[in-house]
Amino acid sequence: MPVDTIKWIGGTDGCARIIDQTLLPNEYKLIDLCDIKTMWQAIKVLQIRGAPVLAIAAAYGVVLGLREVKDSDSAEALKKQVNKSCEYIAGSRPTAVNLFWGLDRMKKAAEACTAKTAGQMKEHLLTEAHAIRDEDARTSRAIGDNGAPLIKDGFSIITHCNAGGLVTADYGTALAVMFTAHQQGRRFQVYADETRPLWQGARLTAWELVQAGIDVTVICDNMAGSLMNQGKIDLVITGADRIARNGDTANKIGTYSLAVLAHVHNVPFYIAAPISTFDPKLADGSGIPIEQRDRAEVSDPFGHRIAPVQAKVYNPAFDVTLYRYIAGFITECGIIRPPYKETISRLLASVG
Ligand code: MRU
Repeated sequence: MPVDTIKWIGGTDGCARIIDQTLLPNEYKLIDLCDIKTMWQAIKVLQIRGAPVLAIAAAYGVVLGLREVKDSDSAEALKKQVNKSCEYIAGSRPTAVNLFWGLDRMKKAAEACTAKTAGQMKEHLLTEAHAIRDEDARTSRAIGDNGAPLIKDGFSIITHCNAGGLVTADYGTALAVMFTAHQQGRRFQVYADETRPLWQGARLTAWELVQAGIDVTVICDNMAGSLMNQGKIDLVITGADRIARNGDTANKIGTYSLAVLAHVHNVPFYIAAPISTFDPKLADGSGIPIEQRDRAEVSDPFGHRIAPVQAKVYNPAFDVTLYRYIAGFITECGIIRPPYKETISRLLASVG
C-alpha cells in the first residue's frame, strides 16, 4: 500500500523523512535524515531498504551531501562534491543495482547542468531527486497493472521478503501486483515467507497485506515446499535486487530455493521489478556482488542469542536465481518472457 516510505521536507537544505523499517510492525516511527552520513547509516542498517527505493534514498543522500558546499561557491566545486557524495553512498550496500542507477542519474544531471553557482545547481539536483521519486511511483503502478491479470480468483500465492509500498515511492513491485488484483475485485490468499534472518516477510509484508485487507498467512521459509507438494500454491511472485542480461536474478536469500521448489512443482515463478533493476553491464548472475552481513543477524536475532558464540556464521543477504526457473519478469513495460537474452536486450534497447 502507499505508505510514507520516503519524503523530502523543505528546500535544498531540507531533510529526507523515512519510516524506520527496523521498528515495524511494532512501532510506526518517522525519522528525519538531515545529513549524508545519517542517510548512509539508514541504508546500511535497513531503516530504509528494498531495491527501487534505494535509488531515491541514494539521490536524496547526494542532495544531503551538497550542504557541505556554500550556495555562493562555483558550480565546479559542487560537481566535485556530487562525485564525492556518490562514491560515499555507493559504499553503503553493494547488491541492489537501483542504488547505483540513482547515483548515475544524479551524476549525469550534475554534468548536464549549466548553472553558474552551487546554489542554482543544488536546486537542479533536488528537482532530479524528486523526479526519480515521482517516476518510481508511476512505475510501481504500471507494474501492478501489468502483473494483476496473472492473479485469478481463488489463487494461493507465495512471496518472499518484502516488495511492497515500503520499497518504492508508492505501490511496490511484487505486492503492487497483488494490491492491483485485489482492487480489481479478485479474492486470493498470500503466504508470506517469514524471510530469515531479518524477517522482512513476517514483519513488513504481512503488515502491508493486513492493512490492504488481503488474506495473509506467515510461514517459515522451510514450509513452502510442503505447501507446493500438497498442490496448495498457484503462483510465486517476488521482487529483485539486480537482474543480469540473461535473466539471472539476485533477490533476498532464500529466493533461489523457492524458485527451484516452484520449478519442481510446476508452479509459475515471476519476478516483479522496474527496468532500473536490470543491469546492462552483467551478462549473467555470476558477476552480481552479494552483500555479506553481520554474524549477529543470524546468531543473535534481535538481540536474542540462539547459536553458540564458537559457531561460525554464514550470512549472505542475497542469492541468485537462475533464469531458467523464472516464468517472466513483470515490468512497467509489460511482462518479459524467455528467451531472455533476446527479450531483455530488446527491453533495454527500447528504453535507451
Ligand atoms: O535486504 P533488503 O531488505 O533490502 O532486501 C530486499 C529484497 O531482497 C527485496 O525482495 C528486493 O529488494 C525486491 S524489492 C522490490
